[in-house]
Amino acid sequence: MKAWICLNYGGPEVLTLETRRKPVPKDNEVLIRICATTVASGDMRVRTLKMPRGFGLIARLVFGVTRPRQPILGAELAGTVEAVGRFVTTWKPGDAVIGFPGAAMGCHAEYRVMAADKPIAPKPANLSFEEAASLCFGGTTALHFLRRAGLKAGESLLVIGASGAVGSAMVQLASHMGARVTGVTSTRNIDLVRSLGAQAVIDYTRQDFAEADETYDIVADTVGASSFAKCLPVLNEHGRYLGVSADLPGLFARPVGTKRSIAGPASERPEDVLELARLAEAGVLKPVIDRIYGFSQIADAHAHVETGHKRGSVVVSITSGS
Ligand SMILES: NC(=O)c1ccc[n+]([C@@H]2O[C@H](COP(=O)([O-])OP(=O)(O)OC[C@H]3O[C@@H](n4cnc5c(N)ncnc54)[C@H](OP(=O)(O)O)[C@@H]3O)[C@@H](O)[C@H]2O)c1
Repeated sequence: MKAWICLNYGGPEVLTLETRRKPVPKDNEVLIRICATTVASGDMRVRTLKMPRGFGLIARLVFGVTRPRQPILGAELAGTVEAVGRFVTTWKPGDAVIGFPGAAMGCHAEYRVMAADKPIAPKPANLSFEEAASLCFGGTTALHFLRRAGLKAGESLLVIGASGAVGSAMVQLASHMGARVTGVTSTRNIDLVRSLGAQAVIDYTRQDFAEADETYDIVADTVGASSFAKCLPVLNEHGRYLGVSADLPGLFARPVGTKRSIAGPASERPEDVLELARLAEAGVLKPVIDRIYGFSQIADAHAHVETGHKRGSVVVSITSGS
């Protein structure tokens, strides 16, 4: 099979297209022919080792000291089950699925095997493979942080980075849960963020959210543009700060009065991927896709992601679903 290999840390030029052995599913695994995947901010971070402040050494220990331990990047996929191991009863050849290996990656290839009990869900019938491939990276992160915040209907939520993969999913999911959402984005993305369900939008190129008069029950910073300390004045009593992209000091921020900070890696749960697929099929969660690249253009996709200004997801089309 063809796979994009990242043998060193560095710019998009470290990626090479190589031929690797097609994986064979073990007894408990499914073999998925990948139709579409994404280049997520996480892939760009692993390739470049550009991490939030303080995480450089930890990232090398997690991802590989001198080069990525998993040379095939790619956290999410949409595709068709081609074969299953003999103990697998939940999936059968021909099933259209989405899958989220997450930090284990390996989706920038024509095939991937996944254990049947890992995050796999039926592909929403109303979405193309390209659309379906974009649901998991931002969606699972948004669900994780909203769950840890204990978001309740009627609460107010400020989403900083509302036009990114995590932010665009969080605006939609929190609005669906009954929150009053304000999005922080730049001028060109105001209409997009409103269309996702935000009741108000702050254009960060014109106004600092911290200087507005509003306060919120939850502030979610999906892009690392703030800190718990900066957000204390805009948090209500019992307010929660979600440091989705927190630096190392942010990970250990202690509560201040009734206000607390929540950070750390998002969980990768099969039930969250099932929930995202269900919400997408119901039309509640709409894929936000910036660009779709061909499989031969992955380096260009990485370069675009590295600008830090993509909208939603950057998708890579590998094969047609048929
Ligand atoms: N904790 C975890 O487990 C976890 C999981 C997933 C992701 N993450 C982290 O979460 C972060 C977000 O991921 P992502 O994939 O959503 O990123 P992304 O899609 O690359 O974010 C890009 C978006 O951020 C917006 N943005 C940039 N600077 C901004 C600012 N100062 N204020 C408001 N918006 C701004 C951009 O909008 P404009 O073009 O309008 O500026 C763009 O739409 C990444 O750092 C990633 O590493 C953490």
